Amino acid sequence: MLYLKSLVVELGGKTVIKGVDLQVNRGELALLMGPNGSGKSTLLHAIVGDKRCRVVSGSIFFEEREITGLTMEERVRLGLGLGFQFPPRLKGVRLRSLALRILEKRGLPVDEAEKVLEDYSRLLRMESLLDKDFNVGFSGGEAKRAELMLTLIQNPRLLLLDEPDSGVDVENLALIGSAISRYLSLNGKAAILITHTGYIAKHVKASEAHVLLDGRIVCSGDPGEMVSNIMEHGFEACVDCRRARR
Ligand SMILES: Nc1ncnc2c1ncn2[C@@H]1O[C@H](COP(=O)(O)OP(=O)(O)OP(=O)(O)O)[C@@H](O)[C@H]1O
Ligand SMILES: [Mg+2]
Repeated sequence: MLYLKSLVVELGGKTVIKGVDLQVNRGELALLMGPNGSGKSTLLHAIVGDKRCRVVSGSIFFEEREITGLTMEERVRLGLGLGFQFPPRLKGVRLRSLALRILEKRGLPVDEAEKVLEDYSRLLRMESLLDKDFNVGFSGGEAKRAELMLTLIQNPRLLLLDEPDSGVDVENLALIGSAISRYLSLNGKAAILITHTGYIAKHVKASEAHVLLDGRIVCSGDPGEMVSNIMEHGFEACVDCRRARR
């Protein structure tokens, strides 16, 4: 579904992504891990077409079509959806109206839109927050659940989630995990999920994990094994391992 070919991306005048090859197939969930500042968020932003992330070389293919030159709006229309690491605060915009506007844009009739919103807000326990301004006075975990809900209701084919689990407590981690799993069980979906702790890996079935170090994918493999190795030895072990392989 997604194929990145030797992707090099510049952000703020600095090369952040330094030649990434990555493939994610339909039905798969890829975990993306790596230390702070390694370029994880930049990679997802480049995939979705954030103008600040300039593709210097390489290509992005989505469902066999090259999308490297397309705008963010065009990519979203094709079926890419990004849940932000730091969702913005929107004073004066209620979560409910924002969600309904997204569903309306998808072309759903009002009663169906309300049903979808009810379903997702129940799944992610968002009912009490629907009539608050988006992300204003939300706790860290509430903001993450709200962002996930808004991303899922866009119904993207490729779901890009930037640390949906950071700052989320144990019970809510399970909720987030089951919402993502349920979504991925639908036909023709795939996801890339950035995580730091890997705790989310207990609640979703990942197909592969990748470690990004200084803008390069240095290791890919079995998610369970990689998450437990990283939890035990940290990313320093990835640095040493890479050095040893050179
Ligand atoms: N808007 C920006 N302008 C310039 N440089 C930026 C900008 N945003 C991020 N960077 C830099 O790009 C590099 C990669 O940042 P990025 O946010 O992709 O890292 P990350 O792997 O997502 O880190 P974290 O785990 O902290 O979220 C860092 O060196 C960061 O300082
Ligand atoms: Mg980030």
